[in-house]
Amino acid sequence: MKIGIIGAGQIGGTLARRFTELGHQVFIANSRGPQSLADVVAKTGATAVTAHEAARAGDVVVVTIQQARIPELPKDLFAGVPDNVVVIDTGNYYPRERDGRIEGIEGGLLESRWVEQQLGRPVIKAFNNIYAKSLAEKGSPAGTLGRVALPVAGDQAAGKATALKLVEQLGFDAIDAGGLDESWRQQPGTPVYCKDYDANGVHKALAEASRQRTAQWTGTEKSPGTFAAPA
Ligand SMILES: NC(=O)c1ccc[n+]([C@@H]2O[C@H](COP(=O)([O-])OP(=O)(O)OC[C@H]3O[C@@H](n4cnc5c(N)ncnc54)[C@H](OP(=O)(O)O)[C@@H]3O)[C@@H](O)[C@H]2O)c1
Repeated sequence: MKIGIIGAGQIGGTLARRFTELGHQVFIANSRGPQSLADVVAKTGATAVTAHEAARAGDVVVVTIQQARIPELPKDLFAGVPDNVVVIDTGNYYPRERDGRIEGIEGGLLESRWVEQQLGRPVIKAFNNIYAKSLAEKGSPAGTLGRVALPVAGDQAAGKATALKLVEQLGFDAIDAGGLDESWRQQPGTPVYCKDYDANGVHKALAEASRQRTAQWTGTEKSPGTFAAPA
C-alpha cells in the first residue's frame, strides 16, 4: 500500500519504520518540511514529503501530530483526495500536559469527532492507545499466546477493514471497537489505554469503560502545563 504519514515523531516514526519493513511505500511529513527529515528517512526508509503530499500518498493517510496542532494543518489538506482514501487518527487530547483547552472537546465532542471536524474528513481511530515503544517492540505472529490487541473504531466499513488489516500486519490482534461514536472507550484515561492487553483484555476493558471525562483529562484555565508538572 501507499501510506502517507503526517507527523514524524514517536508514533509517526515508528509506524513509518514498521510499514516500510512490511513492504509498504511510506511518505512522511512534519511541520518543518522534508529537508528536516533526513534522520527519519535514514531510520525508516520512508520518503520525506510535505503534509499536502502525504495526504496524496495513495491509499492511507495517518495523522499523528499533537492534538492542539491539528488546526494548523492546511485547510485544503484533503482537497481533491478521493473519498476512498482512509484517514487514520492516532491522536489523544492531553489538556493539562500538552494541548491546552480545546473548547470543542470540552464542549462534548469526542476527540476523533473533533479531529474529523478540523480535517473535514471522516477518520478511523487506531494506534492511539499503545505507547510508541510497545508499538515498535510488541508485535508478534498471529496465534501467539497473549498477543497484544488494539481497538479500531470508525464508521466507514472499508476504511476500518483496511486499518484492521494494517494492525494485524504490524503484529497485533485487531479488534473492531465499533463506530466512531464508541471511540470514547479507547480515549486517554479508559481501562484500555496503554495497557497492552490481549484480545480478551481489550474486549473486557472496552466494555468496562466510563464515558465520564475525569478531571485529569479536562482542561483548566492554566492549561497547558508539562508532562512533569501538569496544569
Ligand atoms: N508517543 C506515544 O507513545 C503515543 C502513543 C499513542 C498515541 N499518541 C498520540 O499520537 C499523536 C502523535 O504523538 P507523538 O508522540 O508521535 O508526537 P511527537 O513525537 O511529539 O511528534 C509530533 C510530530 O507531529 C509533527 N507536526 C506537528 N504539527 C504539524 C503540522 N502542523 N504539520 C505536520 N506535522 C506536524 C511534528 O513535526 P515538527 O517536529 O516538525 O513540528 C512531529 O514530527 C499525539 O496525539 C499523541 O497523543 C502518542
